[in-house]
Amino acid sequence: MNEMTDVTASTAQAAQAVKVLPDAQTVTSVTHWTDTLFSFRVTRPASLRFRSGEFVMIGLLKDDGKPLLRAYSIASPAWDDELEFYSIKVQDGPLTSRLQHIQPGDQIILRPKPVGTLVHDALLPGKRLWFFSTGTGIAPFASLIRDPQTYEDYEQIILTHTCRDVADLEYGRRLVEHVKSDATLRELLGDVVEKLVYYPTTTREESPKMGRITNLLKSGALFEDLGIADGMSPQTDRAMVCGSIGLNTDLKEILEGFGLREGANSDPAEYVVEKAFVG
Ligand SMILES: Cc1cc2nc3c(=O)[nH]c(=O)nc-3n(C[C@H](O)[C@H](O)[C@H](O)COP(=O)(O)OP(=O)(O)OC[C@H]3O[C@@H](n4cnc5c(N)ncnc54)[C@H](O)[C@@H]3O)c2cc1C
Ligand SMILES: NC(=O)c1ccc[n+]([C@@H]2O[C@H](COP(=O)([O-])OP(=O)(O)OC[C@H]3O[C@@H](n4cnc5c(N)ncnc54)[C@H](OP(=O)(O)O)[C@@H]3O)[C@@H](O)[C@H]2O)c1
Repeated sequence: MNEMTDVTASTAQAAQAVKVLPDAQTVTSVTHWTDTLFSFRVTRPASLRFRSGEFVMIGLLKDDGKPLLRAYSIASPAWDDELEFYSIKVQDGPLTSRLQHIQPGDQIILRPKPVGTLVHDALLPGKRLWFFSTGTGIAPFASLIRDPQTYEDYEQIILTHTCRDVADLEYGRRLVEHVKSDATLRELLGDVVEKLVYYPTTTREESPKMGRITNLLKSGALFEDLGIADGMSPQTDRAMVCGSIGLNTDLKEILEGFGLREGANSDPAEYVVEKAFVG
């Protein structure tokens, strides 16, 4: 499938669905962005509280009746009535080879125990917040760029998203466009247009900005493009990183080179990292 497709269930349909799975939630809409990427929304358990940027375990029942669960970042903000997820489709992946076929009205399992380090609490106060993502690693930032606290706490927010191909950027591009133009979000978040900067790049298919974000940082091209004269400093800059293990390792070294230290929920500092997937 090369074109984006949308399927949405009516609220009535979703509400009527009978819960047969443990911790069942009902799918309310599904959007296929590319052959390998899709997003979907599900009902939110009334008792679920989470901090924007956290992840939960979601999944389906296996044929033997046991749950098959995987970690997923919640892509929707903490104030949203529903939960949104942004997912890869791994051809032979135990979960996503099946999950990619869900339809509105279907049920998924959602364990309501959110955790994670990509949260505001794990960072010390700063002026400029960087969200560095590759692939589906944009999911936690899809939540955070819709969270009012992000705009209250920082003067500037820079979201970088690097993918192999242009189509892989579409979910993020649409989301940023939505944040900047949707009347309800504008009312909730305030004048975000000036604070949120979107910096998409591709590494394989030609696009206006090409290159790995690590190389663009090391060469200084990123700062030049954004009109930032003096790079990053532990006094002003805070960063959250979500990508493959290789990306995370390489970015950590660069951030440490600027003097930023890794933080955690229990010990906030200047940057935090989370894997977008294992392997
Ligand atoms: C903290 C955390 C948060 C996560 N959040 C998300 C999320 O929001 N969206 C999401 O799609 N996945 C996310 N993942 C990955 C997810 O848990 C599963 O690995 C993924 O759904 C594939 O499941 P699977 O059973 O089909 O294949 P698996 O057996 O889990 O994976 C098979 C292989 O596919 C590749 N792979 C798996 N997931 C990805 C991915 N997201 N991007 C690129 N390659 C991948 C890896 O090479 C992996 O070894 C997250 C993982 C962690 C640890
Ligand atoms: N997406 C596809 O079209 C595709 C096709 C075949 C197989 N796969 C497999 O599917 C899985 C996920 O693919 P994906 O494209 O979503 O994720 P990915 O391989 O992590 O790549 C996502 C983006 O991150 C960049 N990147 C990777 N490692 C980096 C590092 N150390 N530093 C800086 N940037 C880095 C990649 O650049 P580079 O392009 O320079 O690596 C790419 O632009 C992988 O296991 C991959 O082998 C994907």
